[in-house]
Amino acid sequence: MTPADHEFGSISTDLKLSLVGGYLQQFTTALRPQFENLWYIDAFAGTGERTVVIPGRAADMLGPKVDERVERRRGSAKIAIDVVPEFDRLVFMDKRARHIAALNELRASHAHRAIDVIPGDANAAIMRLLSQQRSWAGTRAVMFLDPYGMSVDWETLVAIRQTEAIDVWYLVSLAGLFRQATRDAEDLDPSKRAALTRMIGTPDWQEDWYELKKRTNLFGDTDERLARTAEVDDMERYFGARLADLFAAVLPPLRLNDDRGIPQFALFFAISNPKPAAIGLATRIARHILKAGMAS
Ligand SMILES: C[S@@+](CC[C@H](N)C(=O)[O-])C[C@H]1O[C@@H](n2cnc3c(N)ncnc32)[C@H](O)[C@@H]1O
Repeated sequence: MTPADHEFGSISTDLKLSLVGGYLQQFTTALRPQFENLWYIDAFAGTGERTVVIPGRAADMLGPKVDERVERRRGSAKIAIDVVPEFDRLVFMDKRARHIAALNELRASHAHRAIDVIPGDANAAIMRLLSQQRSWAGTRAVMFLDPYGMSVDWETLVAIRQTEAIDVWYLVSLAGLFRQATRDAEDLDPSKRAALTRMIGTPDWQEDWYELKKRTNLFGDTDERLARTAEVDDMERYFGARLADLFAAVLPPLRLNDDRGIPQFALFFAISNPKPAAIGLATRIARHILKAGMAS
């Protein structure tokens, strides 16, 4: 295995990357004439590539044997490097040492580009990066938050919003939310509660998602228990409303399911800049892209 090997995702990974890539392309095309500094910040950058294993097939009546194939496709970091007009600065963050090694190789092979590779937890790295920037005048950025799970802290989103310069594509883990928010409140241990509150930014989900329900056992005895009544659609709406309270504008998300049709993620687009012209432009581009994603 090379440092660049990073196997993840499904059909919806291709869709997610093609939508975000499409946005990046249109973003630099539209903003290049107006801004000196266009940045791309990939806080969960991976390796720059992804390895896709395409299963083989035994010979049967439909055809001969097909061997398994391994394909290397571009990950988000490479997609952003290839965007024309180019980004002026690209910032890649990741927590895994092997992924950082691959990102450093990617940087070395594009020595003429301004690329920063930042190791460590994305929340701390974003906070540091944003605090180093005294003014955002003349700079506009797109950030891609593409974690596997519930790794983005609410306070990180608050800091991003305060820049008024960064548009965010955020892949929100619905599976993380409905797995951590157990059906029976008795199973909610302190670490699950803390993870949910850190991601959602308020403990109110405990009241909003749970209700006292009557339970009858085999012997006909009844008691009451606190049970989750919020389903995945409710959780997506709830998180969307939280984002809409924080950001200047948020678009309806694209739902991404796994190969068995189970909801995994909601791809949200949020805009930090409150100026009507900025909201109008980013919304026009992203809405069109999300619509195409919903139709595919
Ligand atoms: C879904 S992958 C990202 C894929 C990437 N966007 C691409 O298209 O190639 C998630 C990445 O986040 C990294 N990661 C996980 N937790 C992290 C954290 N707390 N901070 C920074 N990176 C993290 C993982 O090492 C992994 O590379």
